[in-house]
Amino acid sequence: MTATIIDGKAFAARVRGQVAEHVSRLAEENGIQPGLAVVLVGADPASEVYVKSKGKMTVEVGMHSVEHRLADDTAEGDLLALIATLNADPKIHGILVQLPLPAHLNSELVINSIDPAKDVDGFHISNVGLLGTGQKSMVPCTPLGCLMMLRDHHGDLSGMNAVVVGRSNIVGKPMAQLLLGDSCTVTIAHSRTKDLKAVCQGADILVAAVGRAEMITGDYVKPGATVIDVGINRIERDGKKKLVGDAEFASCAAVAGAITPVPGGVGPMTIACLLANTLTACCRANG
Ligand code: GUN
Repeated sequence: MTATIIDGKAFAARVRGQVAEHVSRLAEENGIQPGLAVVLVGADPASEVYVKSKGKMTVEVGMHSVEHRLADDTAEGDLLALIATLNADPKIHGILVQLPLPAHLNSELVINSIDPAKDVDGFHISNVGLLGTGQKSMVPCTPLGCLMMLRDHHGDLSGMNAVVVGRSNIVGKPMAQLLLGDSCTVTIAHSRTKDLKAVCQGADILVAAVGRAEMITGDYVKPGATVIDVGINRIERDGKKKLVGDAEFASCAAVAGAITPVPGGVGPMTIACLLANTLTACCRANG
């Protein structure tokens, strides 16, 4: 079997197109422009790349984009003061604090200081609780993008066996909640899971979100299953720098029914969902 490649890049472009249309209608009919503020503390190279790309796409869909770049040694009080200002700014509907933060900053305190209605990452404890209890919330962008691709590919997910490998707050746990919300039978596996391979082999939907390059190989995959690869790992092979996922693409694609590539799968959907969440936050703020 050779898997269908789920083209996240094309899907994300369609989502951004729909967001742009809605943004232009909001401007014409209501004189409102959604605004997104991204806060980056320090100069982590990978975070720099993401933040630049987020800013560019925010402007492309017609939104107001603000970037705050703070020094590595920014005091927690100064960061909290900036967030308070953004919380109170009526032109800003979404606030994203890029993670990871430098070690001297308390990430939980910082994230929970964002107004939950502006928390477009869906990381605030209120949004986590709302999602966990099936209530209207801001949904984390990466799992939301994965769910959209799965629904687009399969239609109804109900009754499918889903295995999420990885238990992070950013991806693994919210992904499991979303799949449960779509009536999948969900297993969260992780580094301590016994016989991970056998657990994965039971999956109709296998979400790889472990952060370990090419850890999931074809022998973990049930024939015909859908593999969603959340990993973005920079490796060097044969003297060349390469971006690879948490799934080994060639061996998984030989067994799976469908698979997301890296790059061009989950990554572009994450930013598209961030823009969609910002639009949602703006619409909710304006009734
Ligand atoms: N760092 C890696 N992924 C993310 C994300 O989705 N949101 C934020 N804020 N930081 C990240």
